[in-house]
Amino acid sequence: MSASDLLNSIDKSRLPQHVAVIMDGNGRWAKQHGKARVFGHTNGVNSVRQVSEAAAELGIKYLTLYAFSTENWNRPKFEVEALMLLLVDTINKEIATMMKNNISLKAIGNLDGLPSASRKALEKGIEETSNNTGLSMVLALNYSGREEITTMVKKIAIAVKEEKLQLSEINDDLISTSLYTHDIPDPELLIRTSGEHRVSNFLLWQMAYTEFYFTPVMWPDFGKEQFYLAINDYQNRERRFGKTSEQVK
Ligand code: FPP
Repeated sequence: MSASDLLNSIDKSRLPQHVAVIMDGNGRWAKQHGKARVFGHTNGVNSVRQVSEAAAELGIKYLTLYAFSTENWNRPKFEVEALMLLLVDTINKEIATMMKNNISLKAIGNLDGLPSASRKALEKGIEETSNNTGLSMVLALNYSGREEITTMVKKIAIAVKEEKLQLSEINDDLISTSLYTHDIPDPELLIRTSGEHRVSNFLLWQMAYTEFYFTPVMWPDFGKEQFYLAINDYQNRERRFGKTSEQVK
């Protein structure tokens, strides 16, 4: 099927509101091309542009990209520095495209733990695109799902200790609104590239009912067509939320 056939077969009235992506395989892709790992990350930026443009054009509201996990600090120093530089460079270069596509930039994660140049570029990008009303592109940076949950538990425990909150007031909604994603709906779809079938500490609370789409395609080869394929696959699934097939029909 061509890209336009794939696009035409998407039902615009049943789109996921929020798609989360684990962008994996940059290093292996670079190796396959006889290059250093950083070459894969640089090419991964093209996929970020294509996927965010495709999501914006379809009318999807949120796209969350796992750009840097807390575990990624353990990579070789050179690679970590290159990723941080790429982040600054990409944000600076892509603001114009985001303005053109009405995309606003957001971020989740322990942002205070980022190098100040990365944080500044991020803050600038968030500020400059804040009035855009189309897609929200959410970068997960220095992000860990377990750390997010631990931080939330501490926040709630302090409120209980200070008697600002009753135990009986703790429920799903309170927990959801105490996370980094407090103003973002849970993702209906998670895409992970490169053939790995893991969640890797990403949006652990938020993915309770998320549909998972795994593809062997490496992230630098994942473009608009691949994104349309994922959305098509999602639309062919039946989401039951614990009910029977008959109940949801
Ligand atoms: C995973 O591939 C990718 C990352 C850890 C970084 C993702 C970063 C980008 C796509 C570029 C920058 C993005 C933005 C939003 C500016 P890997 O290195 O783990 O690949 P491997 O498993 O093949 O080694």
